[in-house]
Amino acid sequence: MSSLTITPQGPLRGTVRVPGDKSITHRALILSALAEGPSTITGYCKGQDCLNTLRCLQDLGISIQELPDSLQVFGKGLWGMTEPTHPLDCGNSGTGLRLLTGVLAGQDFFSVLTGDDSLRSRPMGRIVTPLRSMGANIQGRKGGELTPLAITGGALKGIEYSSPVSSAQVKSAVLLAGLLADGPTTFVEPLLSRDHTERMFRYLGIPLEITGRKLRLTGRTPFQARDLSVPGDLSAAAFFLVGASIVPNSEVQIPNVGLNPERTGILEILKEMGADIQVLNRREQAGEPVGDLLVRSASLHGTSIGVERIPKTIDELPIFCVAASIAKGDTTVTGAQELRLKETDRIHAMATELRKMNVSIQETADGFIIRGGSKIHGAACASYGDHRIAMAVAIAGLAADSPTGIEDTACIDTSFPGFYPNLLELLTSSR
Ligand code: S3P
Repeated sequence: MSSLTITPQGPLRGTVRVPGDKSITHRALILSALAEGPSTITGYCKGQDCLNTLRCLQDLGISIQELPDSLQVFGKGLWGMTEPTHPLDCGNSGTGLRLLTGVLAGQDFFSVLTGDDSLRSRPMGRIVTPLRSMGANIQGRKGGELTPLAITGGALKGIEYSSPVSSAQVKSAVLLAGLLADGPTTFVEPLLSRDHTERMFRYLGIPLEITGRKLRLTGRTPFQARDLSVPGDLSAAAFFLVGASIVPNSEVQIPNVGLNPERTGILEILKEMGADIQVLNRREQAGEPVGDLLVRSASLHGTSIGVERIPKTIDELPIFCVAASIAKGDTTVTGAQELRLKETDRIHAMATELRKMNVSIQETADGFIIRGGSKIHGAACASYGDHRIAMAVAIAGLAADSPTGIEDTACIDTSFPGFYPNLLELLTSSR
C-alpha cells in the first residue's frame, strides 16, 4: 500500500499548476457526449474520478480520443448512447455516478452503475427519489438508497422539484434527466450550490431560465458540440493556499484557477483570517470566472463558519481545519453535516488525525471546534482512502516539528495526480 512521509523543511516557493477542475471535467465529458458532433476539451482533470467517467462514456458507445493535452469527444446527441455490456464502474466518484444516473434514466436501455467500497456506502436516495418521480425505473440496494443502481431507462417527464439538500450533484442529475424529459423541469435548492452545470448549459446554448435558486429547463432540445477549456481546480489549489499561508517565508503563484463564486468560500474565509492572497488577471473561460492566485505566508486568526457558507466551502473544509489549527484563537464550523457523507466521514477523519498531531479539535454533529495555535507534532496518520484527507494531513505535516507518515495515499490520484512531486518542487525551489 502506498504511503508518504512529510518532513517539515522550510518555505514553499515558486509556481505550481494545479489539475483541471474535477467538477467541470465531469460535466464537460458528459455534456460533450450528449451534444451533436465533435468537440475538444482542454485542461481537463486527469484524476481517476474523471478518467472513470470517461471510461463509462466509452462503455456507452461514445468515442473519446485521449490526446496528450486534450480530449476529443464525438458527441452522438441526446439519445446516441448504446447499452453497455457490463456494469459501469465510477470508482470513487459520487459526481460521476450521480450525474450519469440522471443521463441513463432517460436512455432506452438497461444499465448498472457501481463504484468502490466508499461509493457503495454513499447515499443515492437523494437522486433516486426525484428521478423516480420523473418516471425513472431505478433499483438498488436498500430500496435504491445504495449502489449498485440498476436502471431500466425509458421516457421521462419533467417535474417541479424542491431539493431538501443543497447539492450540485442532485441538481445536475435532475437537470441532465430534465434534458431528456418531456415537458419542463423546475428545480429549487435551499442554498445555492456550485452552478457549473447551469453555466455549461448556457455556454452550449441549452435554454435554461435562472431566477435566484430556481431553475427551469425545457427538455428535449438538441444542442451542438462546442470546444471547452477547463480551468485549474480551486479545490486542489486550496492545499497550497493553506500550505503557503502557514509555513513562514512562503510565496507561491498558482496560475489559471477557476473562481466560480459558488466555490470561493475558502478564499474569502482565509482572507478574513488574515491570509495574504491576491487574485490577479481575472477573466472568463467557457462561461467560468478564472484568475491567477498569489499567496504569501501570513499570521492567521480563528473564525467561525455557519451553514450559509458551507456549500461554497464544502470540499475545502478538511484543509481549512489545518489553517484553523495553526491560527491563533478558536474556530467553529457548524452546518457541515454533509461532510460526513463524502468519500469518508470527513468530520471524524480530520478530528482524529489532527488530534494525533496535538491539535485541540472537537468533533460536533455538524462540524468542528478547533482551539488553534498549539505546536503541531509529526504523527503516524491515515488517509481513510480519501484524497482530500491525505492531502490535508500532508500540508499539516509541513508545519509540524517532526516527520509525519501518511498511509494509503494512492487515493490522492483521484483528483490530484502529481500532488507530491509538485509539493516537493515548491519545497526544493526555496533552497
Ligand atoms: C460536486 C458537488 C459537491 C462536492 C463534490 C463535487 C459536483 O457534492 O462536494 O466534490 O461536482 O457536483 P454534493 O453535490 O454532494 O454537495
